[in-house]
Amino acid sequence: MDVCGGRNRYNVGSRGSSLVLLIVMVVVVAAALPVGGQAADGVVIAQADLQGLQAIRQALVDPRGFLSGWNGTGLDACSGAWAGIKCVRGKVVAIQLPFKGLAGALSDKVGQLTALRKLSLHDNALGGQLPASLGFLRELRGIYLFNNRFAGAVPPQVGSCTLLQTVDFSGNFLSGTIPASLAGATRLFRLNLAYNNLSGAVPSSLTSLPFLESLLLNNNNLSGEMPTTIGNLRMLHDISLSNNLISGSIPDGIGNLSKLQSLDLSDNLLSGSLPLSLFNLTSLVELKLDGNDIGGHIPEAIDGLKNLTQLSLRRNVLDGEIPVTVGKLSALSLLDVSENNLTGAIPESLSSLSNLTSFNVSYNNLSGPVPVVLSRKFNSSSFVGNIQLCGFNGSAICTSISSPATTASPPLPLLERPTRKLNKRELMFAVGGICLLFLLLFCCVLLFWRKDKKESESPKKGAKDATAKATGKPGSGGGGSGGSAGGDGGGRLVHFEGGLSFTADDLLCATAEILGKSTYGTVYKATMENGSYVAVKRLREKIAKNQKEFEVEVNALGKLRHPNLLALRAYYLGPKGEKLLVFDFMTKGSLASFLHARAPDSPVNWPTRMNIAVGLARGLHHLHGEANIVHGNLTSSNVLLDEGNNAKIADCGLSRLMSAAANSNVIAAAGALGYRAPELSKLKKATPKTDIYSLGMIMLELLTGKSPGDTTNGLDLPQWVASVVEEEWTNEVFDLELMKDAAAGSETGEELVKTLKLALHCVDPSPAARPEAQQVLRQLEQIKPSIAVSASSSFTGEPSHTTATVTTITDDTKSTITE
Ligand SMILES: *[C@@H]1O[C@H](CO)[C@@H](O)[C@H](O)[C@H]1NC(C)=O
Ligand SMILES: *[C@@H]1O[C@H](CO)[C@@H](O)[C@H](O)[C@H]1NC(C)=O
Ligand SMILES: *[C@@H]1O[C@H](CO)[C@@H](O)[C@H](O)[C@H]1NC(C)=O
Ligand SMILES: *[C@@H]1O[C@H](CO)[C@@H](O)[C@H](O)[C@H]1NC(C)=O
Ligand SMILES: *[C@@H]1O[C@H](CO)[C@@H](O)[C@H](O)[C@H]1NC(C)=O
Ligand SMILES: *[C@@H]1O[C@H](CO)[C@@H](O)[C@H](O)[C@H]1NC(C)=O
Repeated sequence: MDVCGGRNRYNVGSRGSSLVLLIVMVVVVAAALPVGGQAADGVVIAQADLQGLQAIRQALVDPRGFLSGWNGTGLDACSGAWAGIKCVRGKVVAIQLPFKGLAGALSDKVGQLTALRKLSLHDNALGGQLPASLGFLRELRGIYLFNNRFAGAVPPQVGSCTLLQTVDFSGNFLSGTIPASLAGATRLFRLNLAYNNLSGAVPSSLTSLPFLESLLLNNNNLSGEMPTTIGNLRMLHDISLSNNLISGSIPDGIGNLSKLQSLDLSDNLLSGSLPLSLFNLTSLVELKLDGNDIGGHIPEAIDGLKNLTQLSLRRNVLDGEIPVTVGKLSALSLLDVSENNLTGAIPESLSSLSNLTSFNVSYNNLSGPVPVVLSRKFNSSSFVGNIQLCGFNGSAICTSISSPATTASPPLPLLERPTRKLNKRELMFAVGGICLLFLLLFCCVLLFWRKDKKESESPKKGAKDATAKATGKPGSGGGGSGGSAGGDGGGRLVHFEGGLSFTADDLLCATAEILGKSTYGTVYKATMENGSYVAVKRLREKIAKNQKEFEVEVNALGKLRHPNLLALRAYYLGPKGEKLLVFDFMTKGSLASFLHARAPDSPVNWPTRMNIAVGLARGLHHLHGEANIVHGNLTSSNVLLDEGNNAKIADCGLSRLMSAAANSNVIAAAGALGYRAPELSKLKKATPKTDIYSLGMIMLELLTGKSPGDTTNGLDLPQWVASVVEEEWTNEVFDLELMKDAAAGSETGEELVKTLKLALHCVDPSPAARPEAQQVLRQLEQIKPSIAVSASSSFTGEPSHTTATVTTITDDTKSTITE
């Protein structure tokens, strides 16, 4: 399955961190240096591949000397001496040299690298034509040549690379038409040709690509009409055709794109009216049609776009009234209908759009009073150019005669609570405190250590493989050297709802950096080719349940969605049973590091801490109440924080994926940290009440600023707090920073004491005496109602239950690397 020759980047065992440390010490500009022995394949490079690489080297200009190791005989090209080259059994499988300041051209001898799976030279200054010989690369999965200076045509031969998943030629000077033959790459997943100078029509053949998720053709010189068959692209998430010369009307078939999240057709020459089918697209988040010639009315059915956050219809020729139903688009943050020909009043219902931050109805022919809420929130530049509009800052005062306008648009009943749509693109996650290092290496380098080690233990075998390259056994077949070489089928990536889209190749070849380790495995921050991050947890070997049980459980966990629970976005099952879990990446890191490892002059105030406690209680209530899952390992290290310092509980239900033996180890480890309920030493089975104990410990941690592991006068945290409190309700227990808050606001002191009592209640030695999560939540909300309200309004962005649309992407390609 993978570019990385059977080893993925997350395959770092106990030697991983020391290896990584070593690399960090040596490799500051990691990408610049040869990757030493780490990427060693142990096999001498095949002749054709060596010639190919030498020709490529010759055509490149390398002002910064990144390729200085590409010299000599080249016999060591596959053993790590040639920067950016990855081999499997003497055949080059990946070239990765992004951001290297490389100029010159891409030699057409690249076509000799017949095993090449990934070609990544983006963000350089390469010019000349794209070689037609790319079409010989039948193993190619990804071509990343964006942000260069390539000119000439997109070679039609690229369509012969039938296994291609990603093609990104954006940000070049390509001209000519988009070849219809690209549709030959039937597995294409992402096609990005934006920011070129392509002309002609969008070939309708592209609409036959069954897996296409992202089609970006914006900022070109494309003309003609949109393909009427566009509705065939059932997997499409994103489409942008903006800044072209596309004419005609928007095809009705667009309504079939049921997964579409972003539609950007702005700045074209589109005309006609809005197709009604467009408003069936419930998954749509962004709709941009500005700068066209679209006429007709905005239909009432617009409220079908339930998840819409951005609606821009500016600079068209729309007429009629703004429908009252726009007020039902509760997630809307941007609404721009300026520079149209709209009439009538601004519906009062728009007042209920509580997330609206950008609003513009200027330069229409609107009349009547502006709803008071909007006139307070937005200044005149949102309303000008409507001669008969009144009641906004700087306009005429409305006379009561204009009241028909208000009766024409009665306020909407507030059927739904206003919700804020969280930005799905801000996918973030963070793990257990310690970010060991910053590490930028090329694809898969890390993983080669194990192979490397094994190769070095059996040098003869390696040599034999080298000479017998043509007969090398594919993949991991039986007694292959190290058992980990070669590509193989069988790897399986399963996506759950939400999150980034990526292929298994993207995941396995992402740049990875260790964030931390836990009993269940190692967590990495993985940087995808497009620069976004995900957190990847590689489960330790032999701790998970057998595959069937594992899959049942993991599919259940993938459906778990709550604003305070870290969402599982995908999982990968490797051909040899390796298991990767993919989560959102949280930049802020864990609560433990937020509280205990921060700069001295960055206090965490009481409302922030309270908001975290409330979030935790909400998350736990959902976990226990709705999902019927016991966490079993709740600590401040696996509570993560998003940008707004909202709590996200990580590792939810992971114990369900593990064997009983693995789980008892986790219980023991949690005990060492002080979060373990006392009865667990006998019971060995986590319950909702043991989770409440852990929650109580985290609340004490928030209140006192002390870690549960810390002891004071030989007493653990609850004992110490209880001892202080028994004598008298003294302020000595609280974090000094909170005492400053308490001194400033008279209510804070009381809130602190009430929260402390609640926390002590949670850590009661007797499980039966501890409250339920729901009771904790209710009491916290009573203690500080303002937090409760603000937290809930910012937290209702994601539905608490999502339907389980599980898409499976299987790379069933048989191992082809060495054949
Ligand atoms: C290749 O380049 C490296 C680094 O610039 C240098 O140390 C080495 O001697 C060169 N080898 C040959 C055979 O030119
Ligand atoms: C864009 O295409 C039009 C014809 O469709 C042509 O007249 C124009 O010169 C092209 N512009 C560029 C910059 O190529
Ligand atoms: C706007 O409507 C007026 C009156 O109906 C019409 O005269 C005008 O041409 C329209 N403007 C545009 C740009 O369609
Ligand atoms: C604006 O709308 C009014 C009716 O509300 C109409 O009488 C007038 O002609 C319109 N003006 C333009 C420029 O469309
Ligand atoms: C109105 O608000 C916008 C931002 O919403 C700001 O850019 C603009 O300067 C303001 N204009 C006036 C006249 O206050
Ligand atoms: C509203 O749109 C008009 C015209 O497009 C523009 O001049 C103005 O700056 C916009 N105002 C805001 C607040 O976006």
